Amino acid sequence: MHGTDLKQRRAEVIAEAMDDIRNIETSHGVTREGVESIRDRLIQLSAHRELFTFDAFPAPENDDSSRRRGILYRISQDPDDRFALYMNSTDGEVSTPAHNHTTWAVVVGLEGQELNRFYERTVDGRVEVVGEHMVEDGTGVAMLPDDLHSIHLSTRSLNFHCYGLALERLAEREYYDAEADTWKIFPAGGNIAEARPDLELC
Ligand SMILES: [Fe+2]
Repeated sequence: MHGTDLKQRRAEVIAEAMDDIRNIETSHGVTREGVESIRDRLIQLSAHRELFTFDAFPAPENDDSSRRRGILYRISQDPDDRFALYMNSTDGEVSTPAHNHTTWAVVVGLEGQELNRFYERTVDGRVEVVGEHMVEDGTGVAMLPDDLHSIHLSTRSLNFHCYGLALERLAEREYYDAEADTWKIFPAGGNIAEARPDLELC
C-alpha cells in the first residue's frame, strides 16, 4: 500500500474503532463488562498489523543521551479530551510502580511483551500483587478507574494504551512508591507525541 493510502486507511480504522468504543461506553457505562468490550474492540483494531508498525511509530533511539525508552503516540482523542488512544512504542527497560488511572484504561499488545501486574491495597496502606497478564500480540487487559496495575517491558514493543480521558488531564493518578513506603501523585501527561492521522491529513 502507498504511504498516503496507508495513512488514510489507518485514519479510517482508528475512527471506526473509536466510534464503536464511544458507543460501548454509552451502552455499558464504566463497568467491567464495558471495559472488557472496549479491550476486545481494540484487539480487533490491532489485527490491522500493516498499519501499526515500528516504521510508523518508531521507538526512541536507545542511546546515552536519552533516558526515555518509550514514546506515547497520540493517535486519537476527542475535542473534549475524552477517549484518548495512544500507541506506546518502547525499546528497552520500561517499568512503572503500582498505580491507578482515575479513568478506565485498556492495554492491547501488537509487538513484544508488556507484563501487567495487578494489585490490591492492603489494610496497612501498601499494595499486594493479586494477578498478572502478559500483554502480547492479540491480547489485552481492561481496568476500571480504581484498579491498580504496573507495567514492565524489557524488549522492543508496540501496544495500544486507551483511556477514558487524555493523560495530560489525569492529575490525580496515585502510585505507590515502595522505596518511600508512601502513595504519591503521578504528574499528568507523559512522553507524548502528536500523531493523530486526521490532523496529519488536514
Ligand atoms: Fe497504567
